[in-house]
Amino acid sequence: MIIPHGDEPMKLGILLSGRGSNMIAIAEAIVAQKLDAEIVMVVSDRPDAKGLALAQSMGLPTAAFSPKDFTDKAAYEQAIQSHLDSVGVEWVVLAGYMRLLSEPLLQSYPDRILNIHPSLLPHFKGLHPQRQALAAGHTTSGCTVHLVTADLDAGPILGQRTVPVLPADTEATLAERILVEEHQLYPEILAALSSGQLTIQNGDVCHHN
Ligand code: GRF
Repeated sequence: MIIPHGDEPMKLGILLSGRGSNMIAIAEAIVAQKLDAEIVMVVSDRPDAKGLALAQSMGLPTAAFSPKDFTDKAAYEQAIQSHLDSVGVEWVVLAGYMRLLSEPLLQSYPDRILNIHPSLLPHFKGLHPQRQALAAGHTTSGCTVHLVTADLDAGPILGQRTVPVLPADTEATLAERILVEEHQLYPEILAALSSGQLTIQNGDVCHHN
């Protein structure tokens, strides 16, 4: 399937669990007209997520779904999916969403669920990637936007940005340096998808110049 990129702004549904700085970066890129998209819903698994409050303060539609309010993960994800569908979400954008998605939800948005991870994948999947990069002694790190599949942080890569790892770095200073690049990379990749510079066909990513 070729992902359509028509004249209409891409309709984004953002999922987050925390502070929401990537959500803000995407929202700001839209306002600055660097990205032809609309955030039609911001969903969190944590009603108290800072990012949810920030989204509300920006006038974005928000919803919180607590997993504990559902009988199981399937019911929880079904509720999220129904909500995203009801507002016409076309692309699901994970921005610090700290849960693994499972098959029914993944299959509802084939090739249309994105994530950002603060490492140069395939290095350092999972939790604390900056700590892992320091422990491995790497001198370069960065961030990756990739398609989400059932395997954690292992889907096809859409784009990366690199940063140096400095001798005095702590996990926090490295994370901060990477985050600056995340805020550039995520809107850039979404804009490339919107313009058709980047297309995805059955999981194959094609760059068009
Ligand atoms: C980012 O570092 C992102 O790469 C990772 O979780 C963090 C989320 O940060 N997946 P924020 O909530 O967007 O500020």
